Amino acid sequence: MDIVERTDTPFYYYDMSVLATTLQEIKRQIAGFPYVVHYALKANCNPRILNEIARQGIGADLVSGGEAKAAIEAGFKPEKMNFSGVGKTDREITFALDKGVGCFNVESAPELEVINQLAVTMGKKAPIAIRVNPDIDAHTHKYITTGTADDKFGINLEAIEQVIKQAMSLPGIHLRGLHFHIGSQITLMKPYAMLCDTINGLLDDYGRQGIHFELINVGGGLGIDYADPDGHPLPDFESYFNTFKSRLRLEAGQQLHFELGRAIVAGCGSLIARVVYVKENRNKKFVILDAGMNDLIRPALYGAYHEIQNLTADEDVAHELYDVVGPVCESSDVFARDRRLPVTRRGDLIAIRSAGAYGESMASTYNMRTLPQSIFSTHHSI
Ligand code: LLP
Repeated sequence: MDIVERTDTPFYYYDMSVLATTLQEIKRQIAGFPYVVHYALKANCNPRILNEIARQGIGADLVSGGEAKAAIEAGFKPEKMNFSGVGKTDREITFALDKGVGCFNVESAPELEVINQLAVTMGKKAPIAIRVNPDIDAHTHKYITTGTADDKFGINLEAIEQVIKQAMSLPGIHLRGLHFHIGSQITLMKPYAMLCDTINGLLDDYGRQGIHFELINVGGGLGIDYADPDGHPLPDFESYFNTFKSRLRLEAGQQLHFELGRAIVAGCGSLIARVVYVKENRNKKFVILDAGMNDLIRPALYGAYHEIQNLTADEDVAHELYDVVGPVCESSDVFARDRRLPVTRRGDLIAIRSAGAYGESMASTYNMRTLPQSIFSTHHSI
């Protein structure tokens, strides 16, 4: 608590023991299976978080040259890196080829040709997986669903075969596998079960044609319980991995790759802010924080729910309904509407929970605000 009291708000607070427990649980679940988990850096690129994840032998899923550099600096092994994204530039591809990334997840035929040309020029063979758009609705927020036929991601099922054959014919390409990703914050296992069925069907079809893959990558997307972070501090890794263990028919020697972001880091982070004012309008009471949508954009952008706690007030005092808002000059700068909190006063410390994923990494300096700092604790609670 001391360090929290002494640090200027707002800041991200990371409980490294939660991160360690999460990583241990993942390792426990995949032990004995030909599974490789990659961490999707986009969820949180804080160097201390990256170091801890790299130290545990997890791979990296990258979507930009910047993330590739951050992953290398943090000690991730290049051969355990996947490079995804629909718009990889020549410069990014060249950098990744030079560093020896393990797999490019290729999202279109034009990208395949460019990777081939650049690899040939460098005298290399680029390891790739082809990203299939499996047309599965993950039933999550429309901004974070990625696997339906109308999304910009991947190659439609009917066009895959041609791209596979093209990849096999190009001198600068080494086709390693197929890649899928159906969306994010997925808490039901049904979409993953459907994904397994689709993959089984594809592997049967290609197997009959004598085409076999070294790896299958099922992407990420496992969701967390935003409503009850203390009741469920860890995502349901058991149901998630069991779905693949029981339903997916891998071929002998085939590896299964995962790219988890949120599930690894969401639970370990909170955004800590101070109440600047409590203000009352005709029908509403507002708690105005010194953190805004620039620090954590998820509620404003997706209407996302985050638990909010008053760390100063006693839980047993009277409660009231508040809109919890930030100082940014946008009416969408709202963290929660009609949220029940203990009677809250100027100066109280507020924790916005489950903010370890897509919090700090999506922060901006909008309104010329400074980026939030981060502090780390190995103690369990603040
Ligand atoms: N692999 C690919 C190809 C992806 O596009 C993503 C996330 C991941 C893996 C990791 O997904 P995760 O395991 O974290 O769900 N900003 C949004 C989430 C955007 C996710 C984008 N892609 C949010 O705050 O909810």
